[in-house]
This record gives sequence, C-alpha cells and structure tokens, in this order.
Amino acid sequence: KIIVLDFGSQYNQLITRRIREFGVYSELMSHKTTAEEIKKINPKGIIFSGGPNSVYDDDAFRIDPEIYKLGIPILGICYGMQLMAYNLGGRVEPADNREYGHADIEVTDDQAVMFKGLPAKQTVWMSHGDLVREVPEGFTEVATSKNCPIASMADNNRKFYGIQFHAEVRNTQYGNEILKHFAFDVCEAAANWSMKDFIDIQIEKIRAEVGDRKVLLGLSGGVDSSVVGVLLHKAIGNQLVSIFVDHGLLRKGEADQVMDSLEGKFGLNIIKVDAQERFLNKLAGVSDPEKKRKIIGNEFIQVFNDEAQKLDGIDFLAQGTLYTDVIESGTDTAQTIKSHHNVGGLPEDMHFSLIEPLRSLFKDEARELGEKLGMPEDLVWRQPFPGPGLGIRVIGEITEDKLNIVRDSDLILREEIKKAGLDREIWQYFTVLPGIRSVGVMGDGRTYDYTVGIRAVSSIDGMTADFSRIPWEVLQKISVRIVNEVDHVNRIVYDITSKPPATIEWE
Ligand code: XMP
Repeated sequence: KIIVLDFGSQYNQLITRRIREFGVYSELMSHKTTAEEIKKINPKGIIFSGGPNSVYDDDAFRIDPEIYKLGIPILGICYGMQLMAYNLGGRVEPADNREYGHADIEVTDDQAVMFKGLPAKQTVWMSHGDLVREVPEGFTEVATSKNCPIASMADNNRKFYGIQFHAEVRNTQYGNEILKHFAFDVCEAAANWSMKDFIDIQIEKIRAEVGDRKVLLGLSGGVDSSVVGVLLHKAIGNQLVSIFVDHGLLRKGEADQVMDSLEGKFGLNIIKVDAQERFLNKLAGVSDPEKKRKIIGNEFIQVFNDEAQKLDGIDFLAQGTLYTDVIESGTDTAQTIKSHHNVGGLPEDMHFSLIEPLRSLFKDEARELGEKLGMPEDLVWRQPFPGPGLGIRVIGEITEDKLNIVRDSDLILREEIKKAGLDREIWQYFTVLPGIRSVGVMGDGRTYDYTVGIRAVSSIDGMTADFSRIPWEVLQKISVRIVNEVDHVNRIVYDITSKPPATIEWE
C-alpha cells in the first residue's frame, strides 16, 4: 500500500483515489503520523500531498523528520515537494507570480523515471505561491516551466521525488502515468487491490472498534446510509440497530423497497417509524418553502431522537458520510466550510462515537462498494433525493392528495425513463406539482385540473446543471400516461431552465 500524508489540499483524497484505481491500496493519513507508526504500516511508498501553507508559515504543517530515514520512497506534490526541499536543505521562495491553472512544462532529463516514455513537453495543473529555488543535495532538476524553473526534482538514490504540479487532477495531461511511474517503477507496488479488499479491511476495523457494543444508524433510504447499513451488518450483525423514519414524503414504493431489501434480503434490524401523520400535521397550512424545509428537518431529528432514546446501551452512531462531505465539514487540515451530515440536535445526554466507514470514498466508489456487497441496482444507482423529499416538490401547501399526484406521476416518469434506457444518463429526474390549475377538455367535458411539471437534468455534483434533452417521443409518452393515469392532471410542462439561474428543485 501507498500512504498519502495530508497537508490540507482540496485534492489530497484524489491522490489516494488515483492510486486505488491502479489497484494499489492507498489511504490518506494525518501529516502528524510518526515515522514509528509508518514503519509499522510498512507502506511501499509515501506521498506528501499539496496544501495551502507556505513552509515558512509559523503554523505550517510539519512532519516527523525521521520519515526521511525509513528508506521508503517519497513523492512530494506541490507543498509536499517544497516541504521536502526545505527539510533536506534546498531553498524555497515565494514565486514571482503566483501560479494557478494550466502550465506547460518541459522535461529536461530524458532519464527521469517519473516521466519515462512521456513527451518532453506536456501540460500540467499548477496551483502554488511558493516554489523550490534550489534543490537539496543529492537531487537533480528534471523538469522546468516558465514561472517555475524547478517543476520537478529527483533523487534516484534515496528514491525521493518532487513535482510542483498536481498530477492527481485530470487537467494534468500525463498525471496518471506519472503517478503510475511512482507506484510501480519506483515503489514496485503490486496491483492486487480491489473494492473487495476494502470491504474486508473495513469489516475488520469495525469489529475491532465496536467489540461487543452496539451501533445506531439512521437510514434515509438513500445510497450512502444503505451501504453503511449493509456493511456494518456484515461486520457486526444485530449489534447494529437502524432507525428508518418514514416521513411520508418518500417516492412511491420507496419505503417498502428499502424495508424489503435491507430488512428482508440483508437481515438488518430496522425500527421503522411511520411518522407521516406527524409530519403532515406539522406542515398543514404552511406554504413558505424555507419554513417547510425547517419543519421537516426539525421534525426528522425529533422523531429520530424519540426513537433513539428508547434504546439502551448504544455507544456508536454510524453515518454515511462521504469524502465530499468531509471536505465541506472540515478535516484535520482543511478549513470548515459548512457543517454537514450532522445529526445535529441529538440530545446532549447521548454521547456517541462516530463510525463513518465511507469517509474516504467518493460517491461512485460508494456505489461500487454497494454493488460488491450484493445490493440491488435499484438501490445502489438511486438518483439523488433531497432530505425534505416530496415536501419540496409539492409547491406551496402540502396535502395528502397533492402528494399522491406527485408520487403517481413520478412513478410513471421513472418507469418511462428506465424503459427508454436513459436512467443512468440523466442525473436526476422527477415531477413537481406547482399547484396551478388550468382548463382542459377530456371526452365531452371541460376539465379544470392540475399541471404537472417534469424536471430532468444532467449534472456532475448538483452545483450546476443543464436540462436534459429527452427525446420528444419519450416526453410524449410520459405526458400521455400521466394525464391518462393520474387523476386531476390535465396538463404537462417540461422545465427547460438550467442551473443557474434556476435551481434543480423548484423550492
Ligand atoms: P438545488 O435545488 O439546490 O438542488 O439546485 C441541488 C441538489 O441538492 C438536492 N437537494 C437537497 N438534498 N437536502 C438534501 O439532502 C436538501 O434539503 C436538499 N435540497 C436540494 C437536490 O435534489 C439536487 O440534487
């Protein structure tokens, strides 16, 4: 395995991800990890990640200098290269021009192992304020760029390498090849790791941590918490107690599907709370979107707490936190942007330790993990679904009847999108009920019924989105079916705005 020491770059987990993609296990570890600890882990190689500091900052992240004496190959990326240069006697200085973005480098040493077989001129992604002005003794300069005379350095004897650019991001033309050279040519790692190993490693870890104690998990019906549930159940069986709050704002059949699959097939011990009435009562007469969201959020926590308090002897709380959530909530090194995924508001007298087995994974890796655990495709490839559920897809005041219109029309949409083979292609798709009514004609009579909106978008992360170009024939089929099969609907509109300026959800 190859470990990555974390100096706080937003890209640091991407490095471990790339290495894992090569079939070599990789893990992000704190920069405070000591040489002693690393020796025990016995990795094939160490990567120093980038980071926001300057090596001259008083609070710059440092490392145990003994790490350089372990005889393990090291690759320093960006700040990692500067730190290595600084620690080993080179000179680091502020750059004349801070560099951010694409840069052209030239490999000046055609024997350089990190660039073996690659063209001398290549494009890389730079993001730095300082640079290495003089390499330490034993190193040679192997690549250069206009703003960064020493873009890469190498000490083949000690197997220490530095690159000033970020090989882990896609914008670096040969980033993968460079990382592969380090992993396979320098570290001689074997490509024999798979997601299956990740499962085994996590199970062992969970068992060691939990022992014979109990873990509580809040299931939302989403991918992440479901995967955590199945993984934990595999590790500790019925020491895992799950609470599934059905707030009555889920899609049609969703609650049953979650129960059938997680309880029925995988045998999880699930306390299902039917809280639909409780939620609808609280929401009655409320039409302001923000108020609705707050009510749903608060009520959710209360219901969860009410159930959790009935349980005895729980020591751990499991969460489906992903790496992207970790970054947003702040880590040892990254700044806190916003707190996330926090079952905030848990009663003060309940003290849990957190178990977050997915915190090193990206969404698609979590899905892969789910597949490897044998979870059904429908569950693992479920599209994103907002916490407040259908509560924000019935625009304005929520009633049972309106929820049913959204549920029924949404099911038809999902069926037709799947039939057309578009379900993996479209990032998110759903129906909304704007609450307006219009005149129509059906049979011989005039109708005065609801309009249903269809929303379908492509997106990478939900931050920006473009409306999907669903073929007319598919839209037509959906439109005909919804009007025919769902009572009180006589008109269908398709939302053709992108985000921005619109958002994905209508509320
Ligand atoms: P918007 O509507 O802001 O949505 O463009 C972006 C993505 O986030 C989802 N979404 C939520 N997810 N809790 C969630 O867990 C929420 O309150 C929430 N609101 C929106 C939305 O479905 C889309 O995928």
